[in-house]
Amino acid sequence: MSKATLKLDDKDIELPLITGSEGEQAIDIAQLRGQTGLITLDQGFVNTGSCQSAITFIDGENGILRYRGYPIEALAERSSFLEVAYLLIHGELPTQSQLDEFKHSITRHTMLHEDFRKFYGGFPKSAHPMAVVAATTAALSTFYPDSLDTDDPLEVEICTKRLLAKLPTIAAYAHKHSIGQPFMYPDNRLGYAANFLRMMFATPCEDYVVDEVIAKALDVLLILHADHEQNCSTSTVRVVGSSQANLFASISAGVSALWGPLHGGANQAVIEMLQHIEKEGISGREYLDKVKDKKSGIRLMGFGHRVYKNFDPRAKLIKKTCSDVLARLHEQTRLLDLAMEIEDIALRDEYFVERKLYPNVDFYSGIIYRAIGIPTEMFTVLFAIGRLPGWIAHWMEMHQQGFRISRPRQIYTGATERDITPIGQRG
Ligand code: CMC
Repeated sequence: MSKATLKLDDKDIELPLITGSEGEQAIDIAQLRGQTGLITLDQGFVNTGSCQSAITFIDGENGILRYRGYPIEALAERSSFLEVAYLLIHGELPTQSQLDEFKHSITRHTMLHEDFRKFYGGFPKSAHPMAVVAATTAALSTFYPDSLDTDDPLEVEICTKRLLAKLPTIAAYAHKHSIGQPFMYPDNRLGYAANFLRMMFATPCEDYVVDEVIAKALDVLLILHADHEQNCSTSTVRVVGSSQANLFASISAGVSALWGPLHGGANQAVIEMLQHIEKEGISGREYLDKVKDKKSGIRLMGFGHRVYKNFDPRAKLIKKTCSDVLARLHEQTRLLDLAMEIEDIALRDEYFVERKLYPNVDFYSGIIYRAIGIPTEMFTVLFAIGRLPGWIAHWMEMHQQGFRISRPRQIYTGATERDITPIGQRG
């Protein structure tokens, strides 16, 4: 089948079918309005494909996630975050020399301009780090006007490396500012995750010895967050980029989109939910009863997904990493035990079974971050560091494919034309 036929009264409209490399099909409606005057309406883009992309494949029914064809499980076990970043951005896994070169150039860009630090002084200590990260990421464009030309591949490449290198530094500075400690410069002898941990937790008076097991666990978490096709923040990056906004501006918009509790902000919301349940002394079952009562307006955070109607494969891997990290740190497992209890009850409860609601990537990740000592408000920042290569890869793919400005239409439901009543006669 290469065409779909839409019947409108007695008229047949033929619409082309597009088939992806994994066999999924879409009806191409780009010419529909031209042919019929009709648009399609799909609030929340539940059934709308916005692009064709060769970066990430998700089969939500079967719980499959692959970056550039490689299963997420294999990448988590055998790869590193920077190798995955290279894969997403360049399309292929690097050779050893390509990886060495990539790592080296990212390492060389980790420092921020000294004047950049002054931005932090302008933010209240209580500012949410996602707001600080979004603002300072946009501010990178004020420091690097030499890499803003979206049509120059060399400038785009430099911009990409600056973002990958500097985002952990930006993020760690946001944390240090919030607690009033001096900023720690990056240490380029360390790996990507280890360097971030050191910038977060070392002080000029006391070094922080990075536990390689913890650094590896963080690296795996970053891999698992690295891309997820057309999610809210990635779509935001594409939409903003489609106006030919530069990469720094587009990524800053992605950070803002990620902040919301229905998206990346859910990892913070999960830990707050678990702490609330613990503090109130209620059982997992009682909390789930509240969630199921629609009048309560409460959702089980870390559960459900627009695409996965089966286990989120990332949640499975994170649950395992969670147990390993807690064991390594000899941490109490209270919150993990509570999360597992809730998962267990929910997966057997008719409400969740009927709606195909499973734990998502955010359900267990916060427990790991908390055990490592990362403050709750920084959880979503970690998600942003992980998602950065995906955002960049999608922005670049869009530019390589050629694009039109993103500009959806609407069905207008407001007042029809009317006269202005003089102000004294209104009321
Ligand atoms: N708790 C309770 N009920 C839920 C939940 C939940 N977490 N998620 C969905 N439902 C119910 C929802 O009330 C609706 O029920 P009904 O059909 O009776 O009205 C049904 O399931 C379908 O939900 P929906 O809101 O139409 O689904 P969606 O695809 O628009 O939303 C979601 C997806 C992720 C926003 C949603 O599942 C949710 O709010 N989850 C909690 C927040 C969360 O964990 N977000 C992280 C998502 S994964 C990582 C990321 O994207 O950043």
